[in-house]
Amino acid sequence: MAGRIPQQFIDELISRVDIVDVIDARVPLKKKGREHVACCPFHNEKTPSFTVSQSKQFYHCFGCGAHGTALGFLMEYEHLDFVEAVEKLAAGIGLTVPREGGDSAPRGPSPQPLYELMEKSVQFYQQQLRRHPQRQRAVDYLKKRGLSGEIAAAFGIGYAPDGWDNLLQALGTDKEQQDRLLTVGMLIEKDNGSRYDRFRDRIMFPIRDYRGRVIAFGGRILDKGEPKYLNSPETPIFHKGRELYGLFEAKQALREIPRLLVVEGYMDVVALAQFGIRNAVATLGTAVTKEHLERLFRTTSEVVFCFDGDRAGRDAAWRGLENALPLMREGHQLHFMFLPEGEDPDTLVRSIGRDGFEQRIAQAQPLSEYFFEQMGRQADITRLDGRARLVELCRPYLSKLPPGVYRHLMLDRLAQLAHMERDALERMLGGEAPSVIAARPAAAVRPARPPAAPRQQPSLVRSAIRLLLQRPALAQLVGEPQRLVGLQLPGTPLLVEMLELLKQHPHLTTGALLEHWRGSDQGKHLFALAQRDMLLSPEQDNLEQEFSDTVARLLQQLRRQRRLELEQRFGSLSQAEKDEYCQLVKGNN
Ligand code: UTP
Ligand code: MN
Repeated sequence: MAGRIPQQFIDELISRVDIVDVIDARVPLKKKGREHVACCPFHNEKTPSFTVSQSKQFYHCFGCGAHGTALGFLMEYEHLDFVEAVEKLAAGIGLTVPREGGDSAPRGPSPQPLYELMEKSVQFYQQQLRRHPQRQRAVDYLKKRGLSGEIAAAFGIGYAPDGWDNLLQALGTDKEQQDRLLTVGMLIEKDNGSRYDRFRDRIMFPIRDYRGRVIAFGGRILDKGEPKYLNSPETPIFHKGRELYGLFEAKQALREIPRLLVVEGYMDVVALAQFGIRNAVATLGTAVTKEHLERLFRTTSEVVFCFDGDRAGRDAAWRGLENALPLMREGHQLHFMFLPEGEDPDTLVRSIGRDGFEQRIAQAQPLSEYFFEQMGRQADITRLDGRARLVELCRPYLSKLPPGVYRHLMLDRLAQLAHMERDALERMLGGEAPSVIAARPAAAVRPARPPAAPRQQPSLVRSAIRLLLQRPALAQLVGEPQRLVGLQLPGTPLLVEMLELLKQHPHLTTGALLEHWRGSDQGKHLFALAQRDMLLSPEQDNLEQEFSDTVARLLQQLRRQRRLELEQRFGSLSQAEKDEYCQLVKGNN
């Protein structure tokens, strides 16, 4: 595997590209005052609230809360992963992406030969479907299930003939290849060390990752038998809880994907495709995980769960709902469609056809409706205590929603059902987390704060960090950042780290600075802080004064802390410490 991309390169990249160019090439921007604006590409809106700051190299949407750097934008907008976005951005300005490490970098064996073997396995099984003497059984089965050659080819469907060593003979050309076949789960090893094909006499469904690499197989038995579907085990290249069957194929078939259906089975995905519904994906016999949902919402804005109407299907839908809540912001929609008893998408689309099926999709219940319907079943909201119970039931779920318009709307609905004041509800939920709504400039919705709670002074460390994000050049006003290390205030290590970084790289923009913390918890806080101050002008001229004052107060705090420390063991101070103490007292802080 290629080594890490050096952070230095990311710095250089972010400093050489201009976020305004990057975005403007994809979403035409209009200049408005200091900023550039457009209608947000991540949610539907008529008046532009998507704002790009050239000086900060950062974008933010005041409608849906989307925000980030040029890299983050590319990832979101073009559904790329980090490395792909870096490569694309670099290619745009003619840079090649360097990789860290030669041989010193810690890395496992390259997975490339594993992917190649899986690809060869797909070809092998496809060939068997065309040529094997027993092929007719498989062909008949696929015909019986109504699949055309075209769809079978689009999904790479093949046939593993009966026998213990067909694949082993074909691809296990030497010991190394055989070991690899074992690693990717295509062979099984007995206790005595002999090896044989895992998949025998099965219809083979290759499972591709979102980039199209084959990482596993599902094999369906032709007749009755157990297990109906045999799947590859977890391997270095296959992690079941993350992958979605059919996602790559959907991206291949469709230019735009406004909506994705999540169904339960391989055959459901393929049968829907056969009927021209190319946007279905399946989890691999697991519940819908948070990783699944993140991937789904990176590809589309609307997800429809399409599950059995039975108990198991409803349970699966509810688990999916719980995992989806933290991802529900404006621009993300989740719908629920339940199938009639005894049907699955495969059988249903055969009986009611494409149009009938699409009508049902269009009638799927939105998350909010499904959620409150389910909750409402457990509480009689015609009674006061029932309404109180409703609020109690909803509370743990709603508090998982990220701040934003979507959360707001859900709370409105609950307020309506429970006959409560929205603000009171908000307080019961523990107060709204710092929200894009609260930070909205004009027309602000009243931010709900716990009533008598005294307004806390924003911490000094936090203020300093915030100012640095506003204008990274301020770091040059501080002497040696290490001076601050001893401060026993939360956030100090992060502040020192930022200061040192900026001392070394004085020209980092806000965006470039943020990229150093991508993916970490600290990064989340930093992105959130940067986003909240988006509308403040970094050119504001009192920033320097404010920052100097903040640092001065931090140093003062440090002296006070040291003085207290010395006072604690006053009896046993060395001469040097006594002198230091006198100095501290004279400074009288
Ligand atoms: P189902 O039992 O609903 O099968 O399993 P299906 O999709 O309708 O398949 P057909 O129509 O009979 O061919 C749904 C999904 O659960 C997983 C598979 O991912 C399957 O697609 N499963 C099921 C297994 O992994 N192993 C099994 O033995 C059964
Ligand atoms: Mn089925």
